[in-house]
Amino acid sequence: MFSRLATRASVNASAARSASNVAVLGAAGGIGQPMSLLIKQSPLVGELSLYDVVNTPGVAADLSHCCTPAKVRSTVGAGNAEAALAGMDVVVIPAGVPRKPGMTRDDLFNTNASIVASLAEACAKACPNAMFLIISNPVNSTVPIFAETLKKHGVYNKSKLMGVTTLDVVRANTFVAEHLGADVSATKVDVIGGHAGTTILPLLSQCGGAFDDDAIAALTQRIMFGGDEVVKAKDGAGSATLSMAYAGAHFAGQLLGTRAAIGPVRAAYCLDAIGLGDLGDHCDFVVGVVGKAVDGDDHWNAKGFHIFDMPRQIGTAATQCLQALGIGAGVHL
Ligand SMILES: NC(=O)c1ccc[n+]([C@@H]2O[C@H](COP(=O)([O-])OP(=O)(O)OC[C@H]3O[C@@H](n4cnc5c(N)ncnc54)[C@H](O)[C@@H]3O)[C@@H](O)[C@H]2O)c1
Repeated sequence: MFSRLATRASVNASAARSASNVAVLGAAGGIGQPMSLLIKQSPLVGELSLYDVVNTPGVAADLSHCCTPAKVRSTVGAGNAEAALAGMDVVVIPAGVPRKPGMTRDDLFNTNASIVASLAEACAKACPNAMFLIISNPVNSTVPIFAETLKKHGVYNKSKLMGVTTLDVVRANTFVAEHLGADVSATKVDVIGGHAGTTILPLLSQCGGAFDDDAIAALTQRIMFGGDEVVKAKDGAGSATLSMAYAGAHFAGQLLGTRAAIGPVRAAYCLDAIGLGDLGDHCDFVVGVVGKAVDGDDHWNAKGFHIFDMPRQIGTAATQCLQALGIGAGVHL
């Protein structure tokens, strides 16, 4: 019994040594609440700082009763983000409005762009060296907006800003395992590109399954537009929250593991040629894409991506897929 307690104490002590402080901005929302719950379970989290314009105290009080080591901090109210961000190592951002049926992610741009820009300002001032994980849609545009705001403050570090595209990987693993009748926990589908419709590129040729042309077409379509299934089923009550919370916490957990030098990191939506930087040497591979600004316009388009840093062979199907989308240039095969 004593030795079991001693072992547990030593595990806790080593987790505490490598603990990171994590902030969730938009913590009272449909994604923010369940994702905060999942992050609270990680022994790699020292402090969990929750921020939202409304309702954070209740969420924080509730979460703080869970018997895991992370200490919960609450900040509420428009304009108060900086107070939530001091001392943070990782900032996860699901703040912003979700889609309703008939909307694309781009339809969220006007509202979410200003929310993300204001939160980026706060991050630039309060925790410029943190890692920033952007969930707010449209990810293909909110990541560049976040980057430009950090650049304005002279604190942009391309290896620390990521759009969270993990939900596309999570969906791909699920749909492919269902199709193959395989164990989902042993199914690993790489998905690269951005996070909107045809910019989502599942690399089915690389996952070890045998697919005929019809299956490739159907699975690719479902992975690209899986979010629409949820938006339609929720019938006006929002978009994916629980699966996104799972995906966001999973990705954050992998990053925390990497900070503690114990885990791999997978694909994310990144700007510019990504240096491994803080991601360390633990990556199977890192995929980055570049979003280019439309000349003279504040908006960002989803074309003109480069894909690089892929020290793995990409199969013919993926190559054709990339070329069909006009993403040939800059691809290293
Ligand atoms: N990356 C992905 O794969 C993915 C998947 C699903 C949803 N999303 C996106 O995530 C975002 C959140 O979705 P949701 O379902 O949780 O929405 P939600 O409306 O349930 O929650 C959003 C939360 O953000 C808060 N908020 C708004 N403005 C804020 C600000 N300035 N500062 C701090 N908090 C603020 C709101 O008060 C709310 O609690 C949406 O943009 C949605 O499109 C992304």
